[in-house]
Amino acid sequence: MRPAVELRGIGRRFGSDPPVIALDDVDLTLAHGSSLAIVGPSGSGKSTLMHLLGCLDRQDTGTYRFEGIDVGELSDDQRAALRAQRIGFVFQTFNLLAHRTVLDNVMLAEVYRGTSREGREERARAALERVGMSARERFLPVRLSGGEQQRVAIARALMAEHSLLLCDEPTGNLDSVNTASVLALFDELSEDGLTLVLVTHEEQVARHALRRVRMVDGRLTEDESW
Ligand SMILES: Nc1ncnc2c1ncn2[C@@H]1O[C@H](COP(=O)(O)OP(=O)(O)OP(=O)(O)O)[C@@H](O)[C@H]1O
Ligand SMILES: [Mg+2]
Repeated sequence: MRPAVELRGIGRRFGSDPPVIALDDVDLTLAHGSSLAIVGPSGSGKSTLMHLLGCLDRQDTGTYRFEGIDVGELSDDQRAALRAQRIGFVFQTFNLLAHRTVLDNVMLAEVYRGTSREGREERARAALERVGMSARERFLPVRLSGGEQQRVAIARALMAEHSLLLCDEPTGNLDSVNTASVLALFDELSEDGLTLVLVTHEEQVARHALRRVRMVDGRLTEDESW
């Protein structure tokens, strides 16, 4: 079986004088259903790598194969379609629409994905069920705790049959109780066969991934220290 993700010699630089080398010759292979934690200091390139994996950005050098597809060869539209169908993104801030209910927020995910309207509400309910948020579907986000909001954001990311879930500091704004509930959810998703990549500063969060890598000055190394 082809790997879920294959990065070879990936480079990304920003600006020109002098340029910031955000990613420097990064190699990474992720099998389907694997989980990876990325740790490393601020400014080391973790988010840059996540944006690249999520097809939100393009590398300057090297190749990125997603499920065997050379993403660098695709047009912007093709990449957007690939992202919409296969890749979910969860950010540190939940990015929920404040004046829409939980159910609407999750349903809206599909509007951008061009999925048929038919069955959308059922799919949104199923996603909320999966994250244990069914009882809150009529709530506005402001009435939810941080952990609940993050679970809704994860439900939104799960609306399509994603195979890769990218989480950039998903627990950065959560207290320990809410962090624990989001982590328990990641464990479940991982067991269900989703490929999971987590960026985190927190030891406790990184432990939920089977493999850990460290990013320093745009270079990725295997973290053997744990
Ligand atoms: N769009 C951009 N334009 C210019 N420079 C950028 C851009 N995005 C990132 N950088 C630079 O690239 C480097 C890596 O940034 P990145 O956001 O990937 O770091 P990070 O590891 O996610 O940090 P943090 O832990 O603080 O979130 C930084 O020096 C940053 O200033
Ligand atoms: Mg970052």
